[in-house]
Amino acid sequence: ASERTLSIIKPDATERNISGLIIARLEGAGLRVIAQKRVWWKKKDAQAFYEMHKGQDFYKGLIQFMTSGPIVLQVLEGEDAIARNRAVMGRTNPVDAEPGTIRKDFGVNMQRNSVHGSDSPESAKREIGLCFKKSEIVG
Ligand code: CMP
Repeated sequence: ASERTLSIIKPDATERNISGLIIARLEGAGLRVIAQKRVWWKKKDAQAFYEMHKGQDFYKGLIQFMTSGPIVLQVLEGEDAIARNRAVMGRTNPVDAEPGTIRKDFGVNMQRNSVHGSDSPESAKREIGLCFKKSEIVG
């Protein structure tokens, strides 16, 4: 079924000016960008988005990294968009990611892994609601 998912192009990717290369991979995988904006998160934005990771050993570094530069927030739409996006992103750690995936080709390490994608329909709904107003999504 057609689904929507939230995608983030992370600071390590905007810094290297490869947002377009990443978007081409997403579009090439059959995903359609139906909302997009470039933002620089404040600490409170990153903390709200990643609240489920609070307490993890990587949490502090994650918040620091995600507020270290501009990011690109997107809503992607397509058949099985959540699974499709996760497949084209590859595994969280670039060294484990499959050849041809975004994280394998562009990711630097577990933290600087270039992209985020929602991991379930519940997460997608929550993350899209946190990042976009209804009027900003043009499907
Ligand atoms: P993301 O999909 O944005 O969700 C949380 C992020 O935390 C994850 O991608 C990784 O970039 C980062 N992270 C850093 N260390 C870990 C870890 N040990 N396990 C999972 N995620 C990690």
